[in-house]
Amino acid sequence: MNDPLIVTRAVHFAATLSVAGTVFFQVFIAAPALRSGGGDAALSRNIRRQLASIAWIALVLCVISGGAWLVITTQVMSGVDLSNVFSEDVLGTVLLQTGFGQDWIARFGLVVLLAIMFVPLLSPRQPRLAWIDVAVVALAAALAGSLAWAGHAVGAEGIEGVVHPAADFVHLVAAAAWVGTLLPLALLLAASGHDGASVAIARTATMRFSTFGVGSVAMLMITGSINTWYLAGSVPALTETTYGRLLLVKIALFLVMVAVAAFNRLHLTPRLVRGAGSASTVGTLQRLRRNATVEVAIGAVIIAIVAALGTNPPGFEAIVHAHHYH
Ligand code: HEM
Repeated sequence: MNDPLIVTRAVHFAATLSVAGTVFFQVFIAAPALRSGGGDAALSRNIRRQLASIAWIALVLCVISGGAWLVITTQVMSGVDLSNVFSEDVLGTVLLQTGFGQDWIARFGLVVLLAIMFVPLLSPRQPRLAWIDVAVVALAAALAGSLAWAGHAVGAEGIEGVVHPAADFVHLVAAAAWVGTLLPLALLLAASGHDGASVAIARTATMRFSTFGVGSVAMLMITGSINTWYLAGSVPALTETTYGRLLLVKIALFLVMVAVAAFNRLHLTPRLVRGAGSASTVGTLQRLRRNATVEVAIGAVIIAIVAALGTNPPGFEAIVHAHHYH
């Protein structure tokens, strides 16, 4: 983890998934939940302000880490010193003449459009307009999904050349929809008080998050399996290469997250919905918040592993190499 490229990729992935996840949370979870709270203006303003802070901070981090990723990649591709990356025209060449650079330009455009759209979306006063929601959700999904073109999912021909990037696109959007919405959920649960309106908001948000989570987990499993099939593809590639072993750790952590989420969904969420007395409701909310924080932490480790995976030769390649030299 001390490789600057891996650290930069990890920060960029986390920031990107947070930008997209916070947008999804705002549109699909927080807005309906706040409406269900019966219009407590102060609480609603507080939650909206917190969501706006995460969205803006994540967007700024996305730009900074994206810039660093471009500079480091340019240096690695061209072999020039860091000081010469800017003086010679290597940066322009990488931007205009490589797939990574073109993807970078497109994604930079998406960030600029998102920043413009964040103004009305996140403003506490502005009336909500449906077209703004649709546009921001589409831009956020594109920002997360287009990371696929900066990794191992591109470069193949034929059917794989279409199916692999498409699956990775969906993988990234689903990752944002689950891991990227956990932090906003934890903050919303923390901001809610113990009064009736707060509990109603927390309850609606938890129920909607739960439904959202089931869909995302299913998509992650399907598209993650497609990624694994293309990039590892055999048991030895999973068990005998660094790439494969890292991937197995990632899948194990994913299963731990699913176990925590299943407990929340099957045990805590129904309790909250039944609302058996305020004392137990407060306890349930606290446990949900703690579990969401645990899931955020595991999600962060998964993202760090993915950041390393992308810089390692995929399992199938490593295994072919190993056999070649025996
Ligand atoms: C919490 C759940 C998960 C998160 C947050 C997550 C996140 C990610 C991210 C951000 C990428 C990078 C995409 C890219 O660079 O193009 C990725 C790639 C990948 N994921 Fe997942 N993923 C999750 C679950 C899974 C599961 C369950 C599997 C397997 C069944 C899986 C298998 C893969 C593989 C093989 C790759 C390709 C890595 C590479 O570029 O070499 N993921 N994932």
